[in-house]
Amino acid sequence: MATTIPEARQERALRRYSNTAVTIHWITVVLVLFQIWLGLSFADMAQGSARGNLFTWHKTIGATILLLTIIRLTYRLTNPPPPYPTDLPRWEQIAGTWNHRLFYILLIGLPIGGLIAVSGHARGPTTPLLGGVPLPVIPGISEQMGEAAGEIHSALAWVLIALIVIHAAAALKHQFIDKDRAAGRMPPFRDPVDEPVVVGQGRRAEG
Ligand code: HEM
Repeated sequence: MATTIPEARQERALRRYSNTAVTIHWITVVLVLFQIWLGLSFADMAQGSARGNLFTWHKTIGATILLLTIIRLTYRLTNPPPPYPTDLPRWEQIAGTWNHRLFYILLIGLPIGGLIAVSGHARGPTTPLLGGVPLPVIPGISEQMGEAAGEIHSALAWVLIALIVIHAAAALKHQFIDKDRAAGRMPPFRDPVDEPVVVGQGRRAEG
């Protein structure tokens, strides 16, 4: 049964991300953490079938993350994110916005960098993913270009890890230490204030 929220309470309602955005966010988290584990696992392994197997997983998850991020970015550009709670300090709003922008840049740049690295020493027009699915490589990439891209890819992976640590620490701090409303924008985090929570995604961000 629909409940009516008085106008004054509606004004104070916390605007949260839509269910679509929340679902894509948490699927991305699982994929990215698995991908980082894969990358760190095969990096120091000797050539062989065990390494080859992990590497095939790494390429497959990377391609999936790229596709999912393009879908997510398209959705986000057509459904503006909910505005921050008005009591969130300005510097935290700016830090949050840039943290999110850098995530999008890295979640697109890292898989493309990986593909350039693979293209540098590919023997044919495609490279195999899990189940033998062929992923086209980028033509015209020399071995040196591939190696440089591989090094940039590894360095950027550490930037992504740093961003995740900062981002997760900020969310946990808001939820469990400050107990303010910021983290409640991304369920299952909860708004600690006894005011309504409404889906705010899709409205033009205020201010
Ligand atoms: C692989 C790791 C992660 C990535 C790539 C990621 C990415 C993002 C992005 C891009 C947004 C903004 C969404 C948008 O405006 O389009 C966001 C919001 C959010 N994320 Fe994550 N996230 C990750 C992990 C986590 C973890 C581990 C937590 C919690 C411990 C978390 C909690 C939140 C919260 C609370 C928000 C909403 C806060 C806000 O809008 O400022 N995220 N995340």
